[in-house]
Amino acid sequence: MSSLTVLVLAAGQGKRMKSAVPKVLHGLLGRPLLGWVLESALELKPGRIVLVTGPDGDPIEKVARELVGDRCELLRAVQNPPRGTGDAVRAGMDAVPTEDGVVLVLYGDMPLVRASSLDGLLQAQSAAGVGSMGLMTAELADPTGYGRIQRGDEGQVIGIVEERDCNDEQRLGYETNPGLYAFDAPALRKILPQLSSDNSQGEYYLTDAVEFFVKAGGRVVDLILEDAEEAAGVNSLEQLGEVRWALQARILEQHLANGVRIEDPSTTMIDCEVEIGQDTVIQPFSVLRKGVKIGAGCEVGPFAHMRTGAVLEDGAVLGNFCEIKNSTIGPGSKVKHLSYLGDVTLGSKVNVGAGTIFANYDGKVKHPSTVGDGAFVGSGTLIVAPNAVPEGATTAAGAVLTKGAKMGPGEVWAGVPARRLGGSAKTAEDSSSGSQVPQSEEG
Ligand code: UD1
Ligand code: CA
Repeated sequence: MSSLTVLVLAAGQGKRMKSAVPKVLHGLLGRPLLGWVLESALELKPGRIVLVTGPDGDPIEKVARELVGDRCELLRAVQNPPRGTGDAVRAGMDAVPTEDGVVLVLYGDMPLVRASSLDGLLQAQSAAGVGSMGLMTAELADPTGYGRIQRGDEGQVIGIVEERDCNDEQRLGYETNPGLYAFDAPALRKILPQLSSDNSQGEYYLTDAVEFFVKAGGRVVDLILEDAEEAAGVNSLEQLGEVRWALQARILEQHLANGVRIEDPSTTMIDCEVEIGQDTVIQPFSVLRKGVKIGAGCEVGPFAHMRTGAVLEDGAVLGNFCEIKNSTIGPGSKVKHLSYLGDVTLGSKVNVGAGTIFANYDGKVKHPSTVGDGAFVGSGTLIVAPNAVPEGATTAAGAVLTKGAKMGPGEVWAGVPARRLGGSAKTAEDSSSGSQVPQSEEG
């Protein structure tokens, strides 16, 4: 087992968010803020992750356990009351069962950090040897709100000063602390009791550990973040919006690199963990939520809303103003305009006319429906679930297919509620022409 422990700090109150939702649980492209940090940590294959929360942190722990699953041991430490990042690490270290090894400290509010950067920091610390610490630094065009790195005459790091505690000269510095540290565990344990709360916020700052490492003669190796964007910490909803843009750009770039034609990336929203095949076109103002799967050569949008569990098989089309949830559109099938598909399985080469609604919810339970290969669903059809439109069957425009209607393959049904028309295998044009459509109220 790896001797690496990752401490993730998430006990802060997040007051600057002005929200009743814990800061690290705010959603970001299909994952809570904390989830992005945990995913980067997991890529390092650590021996364990220790999550530090405040006394009200049960919901945070629950979400973290769901995210991590059985991929890594997850321990929880409670910091009660939260008295600063140094105090949070002290609480976290109390939960670490081993004395030696390396401890990587991450703040739960920095979703842009990449595993490759963390790995670089660990390697730098490991090269510096026993007793050392690794410190990541970042050069930010706008360092507002970040701790400033202090260097001595020979350019060596000698400490970090929080912005609130900076003098005028220190505040001018743009080399900042992103909040990423790799510590030799025994050395960290020795230093933690020395931290004091003698500062403008009356908190125990983890950042003060740097100065103590220097004084104790431990080596402090520093490494600059190549992509300064990764330093972003989220303290407000405005900053949450900014990191969302950055993560969205990464996701879109990945799909474009894979051969997905995203016509206008600036108006396309794609969550994490969405699969899209080559030569699929995503048109503007489409929203694709986490877990959506789209095959090759499909067309989506404009203005399509694909929710969790939506699957388009190769060559399928989901056009404008359609919403799809927990449903599959089979190969070559088309749902082109203004439709809602919930809990539906469409076979291949199905045509779903404009304004078709699959009414899947009876107020208590959601029910499934199926549409067989080659079926033709006329415009404005209302299909009350559970229901099945069999292979090759047709519904006329405006048909209301009541719950459990027993349509046979190739049959044509029309009216309100829909009934079978005489003969079989009518074309849609015939059946929607008017005269044969029963208008009666009774079934
Ligand atoms: C911190 C750093 C600052 C750095 C910035 C980077 C300190 C003292 N300051 O400031 O140098 O530039 O991050 O974004 O470390 N937390 C706890 N317990 C606490 C307080 C905080 O677990 O008692 C957690 C928070 O939940 C958060 C993280 O630690 O995830 C950082 O705390 P935050 O208050 O956001 O620190 P910053 O003011 O951003
Ligand atoms: Ca922060």
